[in-house]
Amino acid sequence: MQTKIIKVGTGHTDLTEAADVIRGGGLVAFPTETVYGLGADACNPQAAKKIYTAKGRPSDNPLIVHIAQWNDLFAVAGEVPAEAKRLADAFWPGPLTMVMKKNERIPRETTGGLDTVAVRMPNHPAALALICQSGCPIAAPSANTSGRPSPTEAAHVAADLAGKIPVILDGGPVGIGIESTIIDLTEETPVILRPGYITKEMLSQTLLREVAIDSAVIAPESGKIPKAPGMKYRHYAPRAEMIVVSGEMQKVVAKINELTDKNHANGRKTGVIATDETKQFYRADQIESIGAREDEDAIARHLYRILRDFDTGDVQIIYSESFATPRIGQAIMNRLLKAAGNHEIFVS
Ligand code: TXA
Ligand code: MG
Repeated sequence: MQTKIIKVGTGHTDLTEAADVIRGGGLVAFPTETVYGLGADACNPQAAKKIYTAKGRPSDNPLIVHIAQWNDLFAVAGEVPAEAKRLADAFWPGPLTMVMKKNERIPRETTGGLDTVAVRMPNHPAALALICQSGCPIAAPSANTSGRPSPTEAAHVAADLAGKIPVILDGGPVGIGIESTIIDLTEETPVILRPGYITKEMLSQTLLREVAIDSAVIAPESGKIPKAPGMKYRHYAPRAEMIVVSGEMQKVVAKINELTDKNHANGRKTGVIATDETKQFYRADQIESIGAREDEDAIARHLYRILRDFDTGDVQIIYSESFATPRIGQAIMNRLLKAAGNHEIFVS
């Protein structure tokens, strides 16, 4: 299959061709503010199945359904909790996904067999225009091959899916760079199933009540099964082995250099995910700065591109500094540790 790449601007765009593909049951990759999505008509079970095939995604891992306006929610949800309205008023369109009961229009092929549906209104003009012009809610996971880092540029989508899907809408690099926060509204207490740009504090301030975090997400080594099925897979991973090194900065640099020397002695090439402040101190073979340590938005925005950059080099092991930044640090560390298969070393 030939993949057509169509550039989309930030202004009004005619997406007739892409919308025709969606309406015809086909797949379109499109930009959102978080990462690129791989979209299909959420109400069409055959179309949803194509997503799983193109990504190589396990069929028990449900898709997020994207809508363009508040009223669209009633076309996908069986019950709309009162708290959904408050959160939507505060954060939609934006990087927040809410899990609620699904209605009969959303097939189980879309929800990985669950009777709940995850819904999000993306904050990107091309995504919103595609949903409106297609005239249906759009199911879309991140537009990467299952297990690989999520795509933050159209070229990443093409690297994974060219030849497998008919259309990629190219809106340039995304703004946020990590996937949406997922909150489950089906239980007594709202629970964060995946941390993201919208934090626990922001959610509980809006709801004026306590918000929990799925314990399997906080303690990935505990053996508990995460409630978002996708969170149980090793994810976002580069091809090389990866280890996160945490602790006081100078000691982290010294430890990574010591490990680099040991690897070099064994003929193994190493890479480092560093910051602008530390990059000159390393002697690894490939050193990538993720940005300034204080700039947590930049760290989030660059993370997946850097993981992919290591895939084009020839390093066999990647060491990463830790980025437990104040606001979105939890989300960044969640993705980083997943990429490392939870392999973390503490230096003191
Ligand atoms: O920012 C995002 O959310 C991006 C863009 C494209 O919108 N999408 C995204 O989708 O990250 P995906 O498929 O890569 O991740 C969806 C996550 C998975 O971990 C999945 O298990 C979880 O959402 N999920 C979907 N529906 C669910 C449900 N009904 N209950 C619990 N978890 C659900
Ligand atoms: Mg994904």
